Amino acid sequence: MPPLLNPRLSLSLKPLFLFSQSSFAPRKFQIPRQFVSVKSRTFSSLASEQSSDNGGTGVGGGRSGALSPSLVTEDFQRIDVNPPKGTRDFPPEDMRLRNWLFHHFREVSRLFGFEEVDYPVLESEALFIRKAGEEIRDQLYCFEDRGNRRVALRPELTPSLARLVIQKGKSLSLPLKWFAIGQCWRYERMTRGRRREHYQWNMDILGVPEVTDISGSILIAEAELMASIVAFFKRIGITESDVGFKVSSRKVLQEVLRCYSVPENLFGKVCIIIDKIEKIPIDEIKRELNATGLSEEAIEELLQVLSIKSLTKLEEILGGAGEAIADLKQLFSLAEKFGYSEWIQFDASVVRGLAYYTGIVFEGFDRDRKLRAICGGGRYDRLLSTFGGDDVPACGFGFGDAVIIELLKEKGLLPELSLEVDNIVCALDHDLQGVAATVATKLRGEGQSVDLVLENKPLKWVFKRAARINAQRLILVGNTEWQKGMVVVKVLSSGEQYEIKLDELE
Ligand code: HAM
Repeated sequence: MPPLLNPRLSLSLKPLFLFSQSSFAPRKFQIPRQFVSVKSRTFSSLASEQSSDNGGTGVGGGRSGALSPSLVTEDFQRIDVNPPKGTRDFPPEDMRLRNWLFHHFREVSRLFGFEEVDYPVLESEALFIRKAGEEIRDQLYCFEDRGNRRVALRPELTPSLARLVIQKGKSLSLPLKWFAIGQCWRYERMTRGRRREHYQWNMDILGVPEVTDISGSILIAEAELMASIVAFFKRIGITESDVGFKVSSRKVLQEVLRCYSVPENLFGKVCIIIDKIEKIPIDEIKRELNATGLSEEAIEELLQVLSIKSLTKLEEILGGAGEAIADLKQLFSLAEKFGYSEWIQFDASVVRGLAYYTGIVFEGFDRDRKLRAICGGGRYDRLLSTFGGDDVPACGFGFGDAVIIELLKEKGLLPELSLEVDNIVCALDHDLQGVAATVATKLRGEGQSVDLVLENKPLKWVFKRAARINAQRLILVGNTEWQKGMVVVKVLSSGEQYEIKLDELE
């Protein structure tokens, strides 16, 4: 390798403390006087200072270049720099984690052949108002817009999906497999993993019915959805000893209620009350169930069935002939075929808090029981008709971004994600900034990331920055080399250093 001709450069590529910084000292900029001490002053004092700088003409005196009075106001208020309660900022390190998570959501969805969709965060309020008394309704962020329309920030994505499917009508070819990653808003009580704003990954399959034959229903869509969640967990290092799925079917409840001649239209309401079992005292649950018209006997039977955690026991109580048992057996057998039997268990207490589920329901939980549900979903074959559309068999799940991060923290599985840039490019002379820009453009054109040093900075600073952004290579544009059409490349991991013609740089 030829010796480096630029003495400053060759020095610079030796240990940092040898740098001669004389010619790299940051240039002294002449800062306009009115901006010098803004930090320690109020805007009002700045305003009065400007008026005297204006030669006594006062702010807004009409001289060109003067700040207009509307920009400098005495009416300022010190803002709370925290985001609203329950919401988050995503500074770069958090954004990297979010992107990492979403990347895996997207990759799994792609592997399962799903197409990405999205809907507006702001929807008509009516889309989320269901009669069953769901908690989600009381948590709505809703308001009247300037056109007197009742609107709401979406608390979930499923109603929007239903709306879009109805709108597209026959133009959609079924079955459709859609996924979405969207921000949802719920005015929730804040607990670990529960926020007022969260992102949800949804995967939904529409148009694949429960195909019933003599052996029961084939719940391939449900099984496929759970397979995708298992695939996701595996990708991020979570195993079946960390998490599991509690699975049940709403048909279990339906069968019990039918025995006691409880009208079908009360079904959703009863499910919503039962979903609160772990959150409110059992006497309150009984009182609420009683208020819907259920007899004491029916309530006792219901609560007894809900405590069952084994399919065999359920079969003993309900008898083997019912749809619920057949569905659940089918699902467990499919789980075996997919290879995730160890991940799922029957638990009759899972009913879920949304009124629209009609069949299989499931929830992902952490086995240490420290966190709220990680994800949840199920079959909702009759949601579309509640919006005036034709029903389409449907099932899906929602998977939030908050609980999973808590779980990864618990398990020490949070990835270390640092900023990574392929190259840092720096001109050693102010006059060479244009050449450095050409170098950066060339590399970017080839798909490499480049952090171009935009100011005249000492080399010590450049090396520090290169380390902070984990740059692979440092490319220096110095006068001596550039006269030969060359730049200096330093591979930062090995310290290897060479000159190369710009044309050959890749
Ligand atoms: P969900 O159970 O209400 O279902 O929410 C699904 C997941 O979203 C939860 O398991 C949790 O991971 C996350 N989540 C919900 N609320 C919050 C919150 N306040 N803070 C943080 N994370 C939260 C649904 O929303 C259904 N629409 C899912 C679905 C899709 N069913 C069929 N397709």
